[in-house]
Amino acid sequence: MIDQSENTSVNPHSESRPGIQDLIAERLSRRSFLAAGAAAGAVGVAGCTQAGPEQAGDGGPHAGSVSFSEITRDVSDTIAYPDGYGADLLIRWGDALFADSPAFNPESQSAAAQARQFGYNNDYIGFIEMDRIDGRVTRGILCVNHEYTNTLLMFPGIAESFPDSMTAELCAVEQAAHGGTIMEIERGADGAWAPVVGSPVNRRVTARTPMQITGPAAGHQRLRTNADPTGTRVFGTINNCAGGITPWGTYLMAEENFNGYFLGDLADDHPEAANHARYGVPGGWYQWGRFEDRFNLNAEPREPNRFGWVVEVDPRDPSSTPKKRTALGRFKHEGAESVVAPDGRVVLYMGDDQRFDYVYKFVTAGTFAPGDRAANMNLLDDGTLYVARFDADGTLAWLPLTFGTGPLTEANGFDGQGEVLIEARRAADLLGATPMDRPEDVEPSPQTGRAYVMLTNNHRRTEDQVDAANPRAENWHGHIIEIIEPDGDFAATSSRWEILVRCGDPSDPEAGAMWNPATSENGWFGSPDNCAIDPDGRLWVATDGNPRTGANDGIWSLGLEGEERGAGRAFFRAPAGAEVCGPKFTGDGRTLFAAVQHPGDTDGATYEAPGTRWPDFDDAMPPRPSVVALRKHDDGPVGS
Ligand code: FEO
Ligand code: CA
Ligand code: CA
Ligand code: CA
Repeated sequence: MIDQSENTSVNPHSESRPGIQDLIAERLSRRSFLAAGAAAGAVGVAGCTQAGPEQAGDGGPHAGSVSFSEITRDVSDTIAYPDGYGADLLIRWGDALFADSPAFNPESQSAAAQARQFGYNNDYIGFIEMDRIDGRVTRGILCVNHEYTNTLLMFPGIAESFPDSMTAELCAVEQAAHGGTIMEIERGADGAWAPVVGSPVNRRVTARTPMQITGPAAGHQRLRTNADPTGTRVFGTINNCAGGITPWGTYLMAEENFNGYFLGDLADDHPEAANHARYGVPGGWYQWGRFEDRFNLNAEPREPNRFGWVVEVDPRDPSSTPKKRTALGRFKHEGAESVVAPDGRVVLYMGDDQRFDYVYKFVTAGTFAPGDRAANMNLLDDGTLYVARFDADGTLAWLPLTFGTGPLTEANGFDGQGEVLIEARRAADLLGATPMDRPEDVEPSPQTGRAYVMLTNNHRRTEDQVDAANPRAENWHGHIIEIIEPDGDFAATSSRWEILVRCGDPSDPEAGAMWNPATSENGWFGSPDNCAIDPDGRLWVATDGNPRTGANDGIWSLGLEGEERGAGRAFFRAPAGAEVCGPKFTGDGRTLFAAVQHPGDTDGATYEAPGTRWPDFDDAMPPRPSVVALRKHDDGPVGS
């Protein structure tokens, strides 16, 4: 889902810094120097004026190379994967989770039924291992976000008179199809993964699940509403995009485009007007506000301040209350992947997915206590939130969003840390963070001591707004930045950065793409979105927007080290209209879970006329967002 708005606030894309073209030239000349010292094979591609992907250079462990027969870049109604692999259709929208789940009937769906079934538009996938037999992972808990609903593809007969055709019950179905699913899964005798229907851990989290607000902003007057005068309790979570599994085994659900769920019209001088404008509220994408005050700004003008957080859920206790952790800041959270720093503090990397918004990381105040789950359960309530400034000399400054430091003072309208976090975007604007080309997933790699930032695209960046970390105007295809933490210290406040690849067609000089020349005509892609690191430290990238390049979205492996650095290879293709989310490996590397999101959502698609009917290909069944498990026939590690 793409929010068409953008950050039009301060941080004028380096205009405030003199001579941006000089700085870029400086950066490129430094890159050329580094590349000159790199191994053979990593050189520039045709049409590029700068050196190609570089050697890592500072001695990180080398991730192994991949070995699979590359698929072709293509368009198709169904999925594709390499020879020697198979795909288990693990679970589809509407499939049962509980013994009493009603059979899925898209012609007469109810909110009560949907709340007992797998939700819509699967996005993030987390996996918590439960069992391993002879080195093979055989059982675990899958945690899946349901980011949003495609109203016109979900409901029969709705399109013709939409939005008038929406009813309170259909809005309730949509709310029940949001949130997340927690379910036990296991490998059967044939090796295929399947849900354990009725497992005691199975749970649906929806847009109505009661939640607690915790951390520095909890109880702030700007989080108080008529329905919740305490500012500490909220119903539900929405637009849960990517997320994370913490080292202590909890499930993080990132709230992304929450703005789209609000209707209403506040006066320009309303105290929340400027704040809401910075976040694109109200987006008016859904009709919920016609039937429920909390999604109507005129009734509850502070309700949007209760969304845009990261939610922590204990997946082993279905009766636990999910917690919105305000210490992690309020923005359009793409994901929240974490890693333990050498000193035991836990570091979360987070993107704010909007054109010209920022990359963040959060460092806990306390340290992770292995084996003491209870001691870790509130680590995310106390720590420091940082925003990234990518400097042209290749350094990265992490700027703390800490009340009382720099411009984050009462003089600038902040009454304390809670308000800094509620208006995290404005705080980051004031600190001079670098406006990026839509930061999506940010994945730390314990194997390399680095983090990989997916910058999906930003065609609205102008020549005047180009900077070293966002080097292309009209960036239609995005790029990937590698953050190099000093000595693998993820908690560091000064890091380095490099561009790993510039996406797009390397054979088109106009595209300004940059790949390792070993990349085949199938191996390049556009619009990187989600990514995963496999147990051998290799990077896999899922796309959302690759159809702009003439082929469906999919998953590609991307080399990080040595002669393969910057080389892409096509592994998986989604059906028409779909993007791929949540790639996640099991700890034995033998399974790659992939979330096929919004299949059939092609231009003008409706329930009656979708772009594909994957995965059922039944004329009575609409396309169904589903999770697939990709495995090798010989049960070897994926990519081996
Ligand atoms: Fe939900 Fe930024 O993708
Ligand atoms: Ca995404
Ligand atoms: Ca990821
Ligand atoms: Ca996306």
